[in-house]
Amino acid sequence: MGTTRTALVTGATSGLGLATVRRLAATPGWRVVLAVRDLRRGRALAGELGPDAGLVALELASLASVREAAATVAGQEPPVDVLVLNAGLQVTRSDVASADGHELTFAVNHLGNYLLTRLLLPHLAPGGRVVTVGSGTHFGTLRKSGPYPRPRWEDPRVLATPREGSGQRAYATSKLATVYFSRELARRTPGIDVVTFDPGLLPATGLARDYSPRAQALYRRLTPLLERLPGAQTVERAAGQLADVVTGPDGTPGRYVERGVEAPSSPESLDPRRARELWDVSADLVGLPAQISAS
Ligand SMILES: NC(=O)c1ccc[n+]([C@@H]2O[C@H](COP(=O)([O-])OP(=O)(O)OC[C@H]3O[C@@H](n4cnc5c(N)ncnc54)[C@H](OP(=O)(O)O)[C@@H]3O)[C@@H](O)[C@H]2O)c1
Repeated sequence: MGTTRTALVTGATSGLGLATVRRLAATPGWRVVLAVRDLRRGRALAGELGPDAGLVALELASLASVREAAATVAGQEPPVDVLVLNAGLQVTRSDVASADGHELTFAVNHLGNYLLTRLLLPHLAPGGRVVTVGSGTHFGTLRKSGPYPRPRWEDPRVLATPREGSGQRAYATSKLATVYFSRELARRTPGIDVVTFDPGLLPATGLARDYSPRAQALYRRLTPLLERLPGAQTVERAAGQLADVVTGPDGTPGRYVERGVEAPSSPESLDPRRARELWDVSADLVGLPAQISAS
């Protein structure tokens, strides 16, 4: 008799998350909990994956929704073994606010994930794992992120404030925050394995959905070409690598896995002072003490 392990995957209804939960649900010994903002699509997907699949509503742009989702999951058995923080967005502007008044990209790509993780940590199965999803845009170099705007790190309270500017820059900066968060989480939680998975460029997902219809149409037409660029790949391939990170053995906590291979994250992302500051400010913004308590 084998034991079943549970992976909770956010953003399970589209793109990388969808392809990954299909793989995990088909992996012997694994079940999935789908954390989704659209329950109608979530129910249909759970129906497709079978009776073992769990479902929870999660809108990362609302801290109240994150708290509700965490309370639901915390009360469920079996506990989550692996928390996969896949959901994310890219918008064109940085002056849009979340339900709590935070800059939307920072709110969804960082703060919601931070709160969800903090609330679920005491409920993870022993020896649990947290997988964050990063992006090569956090490097801000031509080789890793092409012409994409570089991240611009600032005081996290400034990053959390809606203001005029490029949504793409906010996205790259939020993915730098993802690496800081993962490394600081690993430092503060011995016994929990923490990994940042960078899938490379995935032109076929819905990440560009905030772009103009014309830009999206062009992007769709170019997808088969873009997928052949060095640093890019298909969603299916990336999902296989993410599923391997979820089900594979432990490694160095806080490691960065780029398209299936452990690799260094950017030199900028290794700054422990920024990682600590982001942790402390995030705790304050979500109303938690910075120190992790046992329950
Ligand atoms: N595409 C790329 O080139 C690329 C490269 C590097 C990293 N990534 C990262 O990969 C991850 C998955 O993105 P993707 O490329 O698969 O894009 P995607 O197809 O747009 O999927 C994003 C997922 O996040 C969910 N989501 C978005 N906003 C949310 C919110 N406010 N609350 C809860 N869920 C929300 C979406 O929900 P719905 O299904 O309801 O829309 C969707 O399931 C993201 O973290 C992204 O930053 C992508």
